[in-house]
Order: sequence, then C-alpha cells, then structure tokens
Amino acid sequence: MARPTETRRIVLARRPDGAPRPDDFDVVAAPIGETPEGGALIRNLCLSVDPGTRSRLSEGASYAPPLKIGETIDGFAVGEVIESRTSRVSVGDLVATGSGWCEHWVFPGRGYIQLIPHDSLPLSLWIGVLGVPGMTAWFGLHRVAGLKAGDRVLVTSAAGPVGATAAQLARQMGAARVVGTAHGADKTRWLLDQAKLDQVVDYRRSDLAEALRAASPEGFDVLFDNVGNAMIDLCLPLMRPGGRIVISGQLADYNARPGDVRGLANTRYFIASRLRMEGLVVFDDLKAFPEAQRQVGDLIRKGELAYREHRYSGLDQAPLAFCDLFTASTFGRRIVDLAQAPA
Ligand SMILES: NC(=O)c1ccc[n+]([C@@H]2O[C@H](COP(=O)([O-])OP(=O)(O)OC[C@H]3O[C@@H](n4cnc5c(N)ncnc54)[C@H](OP(=O)(O)O)[C@@H]3O)[C@@H](O)[C@H]2O)c1
Repeated sequence: MARPTETRRIVLARRPDGAPRPDDFDVVAAPIGETPEGGALIRNLCLSVDPGTRSRLSEGASYAPPLKIGETIDGFAVGEVIESRTSRVSVGDLVATGSGWCEHWVFPGRGYIQLIPHDSLPLSLWIGVLGVPGMTAWFGLHRVAGLKAGDRVLVTSAAGPVGATAAQLARQMGAARVVGTAHGADKTRWLLDQAKLDQVVDYRRSDLAEALRAASPEGFDVLFDNVGNAMIDLCLPLMRPGGRIVISGQLADYNARPGDVRGLANTRYFIASRLRMEGLVVFDDLKAFPEAQRQVGDLIRKGELAYREHRYSGLDQAPLAFCDLFTASTFGRRIVDLAQAPA
C-alpha cells in the first residue's frame, strides 16, 4: 500500500456556548508529516469520544490545558501501524492511542500507545471497556474507593461506559447492593436486565434524595460519581460512616459557564460520617493497565460483564457522536468507525 500523503482531522472551530453543537467543529484536510525517528504512522480504524473533552473546549481551569481554535480534538483511537521507526511497534500491529479525531496519525515517539493483543475480543473494546472508561471504573473502585465486600455502592450516570463498568465490577468485588442513576426506560431496562444492578433511580425526579434513600435504606459506603457537585452534595447525607466518594467526572458541570458550577454545602457530613473524597486521572495507573485489562477481558469472555456500544460511521460524524453525549437518549460507548480492520 502506498504511503498516504494527506489525512483528515476534526478541529475546534469555535468555543461552545453551553452544550456543544456539531458546527463548533470543522473537518480539515492536512498533509501527513514525516514519521520521526522513534515514531510511527498509524491508520485509524475507529475512534471514541469522551465527555471530559468538553472541559478542554472552553477557556479556563481543567486538569488539561484548553485546546486552541484549529487544534485537533483529543480522543482515543484504535489503529493499524502502517510505517514504523520504533522498536515499540511494527507494521501491521494494532494499537490503541490518544491520536485525537483523525484518520491518520503520526505517533511522535512519546505519549499513550498500547499494543492490542491478538484475541477474540472486538477491537473497539480497547477504547471502551478495556480502555480509558473501563480502566477509570477499575482503578476508581480498586485504588481510590478501596471497595470491600459488603459495601453498598451508588454509581451515577450508570448507563455510560464508565458507570456501567463500575457498577458491574462493584458487584464482582462483592458489593452488597449496587444502585445506579440514569434517565430513561431503555437505560433502566438495560442496567437491570444486562448489567444486573439492584435498582436504578432516575436522577431527574424531584424527590431524588428520598428515592435514593429508599433504594438503599442503610445508605452508601461508596459513591462513584460521574456527574458533579449538585449530585455529590445531595448524596453526602446518604453516605454511611467511613464512606468513600470517587470523583470520576462532572457531566452535569462540563457545559456550565464559569462561575455557574455550585459548590458543596453539606460538608459537615465529612466530619460526622468520617467521609473521604478523592478524584482520579486514570493515566496515573497506566503501568497497571495490562493486568486490569486481562481481568476485565476474562470477565467479558465469560459473559460476566456486559457492555454497550453506539456506532457512528465516518470521521465527519465524530462531532455528532460527541454532542450526543450531552443530549441524546442513546447510550453506551460512542464508537466512530473509520476503516475496515485488516483481515
Ligand atoms: N477521571 C478520569 O480519569 C476519567 C476518565 C474517563 C472518563 N471520566 C469521566 O467519567 C464520566 C463518565 O464517562 P462516560 O464516558 O462513561 O460517559 P457517559 O456516562 O456515557 O456520559 C454521557 C451520559 O451522561 C449523562 N448526562 C449528560 N448530561 C448530564 C447531566 N447534565 N446530568 C447528569 N447526567 C448527564 C447522560 O445520561 P442520561 O441520559 O442518563 O442523563 C449521557 O448519556 C465522565 O464524567 C467522564 O469525564 C473520567
């Protein structure tokens, strides 16, 4: 196959005001640069979109710097190595990378790149339940929450790839009760029937605190929160003594204007109930990914961990896939298919 000379990528066209819209993004064609010594050229097969990317589209504080107008949107992809100048990967290898939303990517020799083993699992899982979302669930529970058998667990945005994996891993780890929040009948049915949660509570109901209390009358030992401050504040009185709160993400706050995100008011429960709250950036645990991935892969092969994907076709659909995270009733890891996997 001749080396491609040009590729397409999705860039930030303007900063979103509130929820992102597809026209906040542009698709641009650009020449593919030389592969540097130590690097590789990768043809992407599929990519995923992450809600946390929203925090990089606005000016202001985040754990990562804001993207500039015209910069490629960040994200994870599975690709095939088509040129290599490094001993880390060979032509024909399949890899998961943080290439961003593009059809080809020149790996510069540093940053996230992981060889995908040849096995029976679908490739897209390496940017889903075996990738960043699944690893966030794994290390959020194992390292941050220190989940113990018998714990009562509440997971917010439970139908998303992070939440659904966290809820099921909590069960595998011996949780006595697993409750999730989600909106809509389809998500609720999937979480009860496929992911086997004990109960699902619609977070949009007006009596949410009472509904959560009824869902676990003895309270919660672990809150795995994907949603943000208002939800955490509402849950603080529901935490059991010694409770642990994992701050995974802030879905309800990503689209808020600076200054509009509310603070926590119920902090007295940290004292009375000796609570602990800790955030994570999943890449801090990168060295431990392979063993966690092996164990999650085994659960999937044994049919003991359910996952869901929602698919889009072609790079041009990446902005829509991303915007749907905040508006659509669809759910599951959003996968944008770009090219056929090699036979
Ligand atoms: N800390 C880390 O290292 C790390 C790594 C990866 C991901 N994360 C975080 O993990 C969280 C979950 O990620 P994910 O990929 O699994 O996404 P996700 O949960 O699938 O996110 C999309 C879902 O969020 C819910 N949502 C959207 N707006 C909301 C709002 N205003 N309030 C409450 N829920 C809302 C929607 O569900 P409903 O229809 O039910 O509202 C939507 O389907 C995100 O916050 C992400 O940033 C953290």
